Amino acid sequence: MWTKSDLQKLVQEKLGDYLFCVVSNRQPYIHVFKKGRIECQRGVGGVISALDPIMQTCQGTWVAYGNGQADRHVTDNQGKLMVPEGSPRYTLKRVWLTKEEELGYYYGYSNEVLWPISHTAFRRPIFRREDWEHYKKVNEKFARAVMEEVGNKKAFVWIQDYHLCLLAKFLKQMAPAQIITAHFWHIPWPSYETFRICPQRRELLEGLLANDLLGFHIRYHCNNFFDVIDREIESKIDRERYSVFKGTHETLIRPYPISVDFEGINQIAESEDVRRHQETLIQEFELSNLKVIVGLDRIDYTKGIPEKLRAVDRLLKNHPELKEKIVLLQIGVVTRLHLHEYKDLNDEINSLVEEINWKHSTDGWKPIVFVRRHFSLPEVLALYRIGDVGIVSSLHDGMNLVAKEYVSSRSDNGGMLVLSQFTGASRELTDAVLINPYDRNQFSDGIYTALTLAEEDRQGRMMRMREIIQHNNIFRWAGKIISDLLKFKFKDDEIKYKMSDPAESFRLSYPADHSKNQRAKDS
Ligand code: F6P
Repeated sequence: MWTKSDLQKLVQEKLGDYLFCVVSNRQPYIHVFKKGRIECQRGVGGVISALDPIMQTCQGTWVAYGNGQADRHVTDNQGKLMVPEGSPRYTLKRVWLTKEEELGYYYGYSNEVLWPISHTAFRRPIFRREDWEHYKKVNEKFARAVMEEVGNKKAFVWIQDYHLCLLAKFLKQMAPAQIITAHFWHIPWPSYETFRICPQRRELLEGLLANDLLGFHIRYHCNNFFDVIDREIESKIDRERYSVFKGTHETLIRPYPISVDFEGINQIAESEDVRRHQETLIQEFELSNLKVIVGLDRIDYTKGIPEKLRAVDRLLKNHPELKEKIVLLQIGVVTRLHLHEYKDLNDEINSLVEEINWKHSTDGWKPIVFVRRHFSLPEVLALYRIGDVGIVSSLHDGMNLVAKEYVSSRSDNGGMLVLSQFTGASRELTDAVLINPYDRNQFSDGIYTALTLAEEDRQGRMMRMREIIQHNNIFRWAGKIISDLLKFKFKDDEIKYKMSDPAESFRLSYPADHSKNQRAKDS
């Protein structure tokens, strides 16, 4: 089993004098003004919860967009500061964007083109030429920020997500002999039928193929990527090596299922702090004597939040005996509110909550409590631990770390996970109650099953899921990617990449029990 110290050892032994640099749009820590003072908050989202523990272990530099109102007040003249506050472990270098750049690159191209194209949630992408121009310009800006850190050194650069498709290409143009890059794609990769509508598809693909290593969560996404390359780019696909040659440049394509810091979550989940938060939540939301169903999602149309609310409605219709016995406590994290899709979704959720509560509520009880406020990590873990059932209902999701966090936090083996079959996580957590969020009856039956499972069955399932996550933890995910990255040699070295058996690479990336079945399903 990979541990934090294994990763630390790997980095200390192999990284030597090279710079290790992570680049993402979203920053791990944001500075905001609160009650006249500057407050440092941890960022939200899968990228942050996965990579912050890694960077705390590996150190190095994290380059990201500084979007906090107070961010400039705490950085030096190169936009840098050490984080986390209180126990600094690594450098955060902030890239500053103008409002126009943020609008075009982040809201526009990233979230109105690449996000809907990559998720099967039936939203139409919006292509605007000026957004694409901003996207290119901002990717180049990120490249210059990385180069300021690289200087004359050699660097391993680990790029995150769909905001930075062109970054590797810019970096390789700026310093071909000094940089080796890996890019991890945190969301699903679409089929050719979907991707081919994108007018800039070739530029995006060429940008991604400038990387030495390109990672997806699951093999299914790797195969979708190969299909797209096959039809769009003049290149040679080597199915044996699982790689693409464009000219003389080779990009290795690999599945690396992302995970969470299982041991770290367990430790915090058992703390006195979390126990106190559990009591506060129970009191604040009047949860005692109720079976509590919990949910925590960014308010995004891919997360299936209206579907979840409607499934609770259907559950109460089919099982009126559950009235006054259950409650859904749903935390919604507001994002991307500048986009009308997200504003509309917020409105839809508000009216659904009101309608369903109005329909079913009785004196002193309502079935849904919807909360929009920032929850700290201990509060999130407290929420999970009071949840008799945790629901993740994404319509499509690369992995979904809420599912893995929920299971990891239950060191008491309590609770039960209801999980959408359209998440990457469902391929590992097959002991969850798997649901199709589009099918309201089946979804509500799934919640009913989770609430009424026989105790022995429920505990057994939770224990098996916990074992899987404990083994396939975040240090394993990062350890695999970083060890693969460190095998590449810089241009002036003789052998570019020392190939290991590709089948071995898959075995290491997949949970032993599921790799065979999964391969069969994917093929
Ligand atoms: O998990 C996919 C992801 O894009 C992350 O990279 C990101 O942190 C998260 O969704 C949240 O999105 P945003 O940064 O736009 O709020």
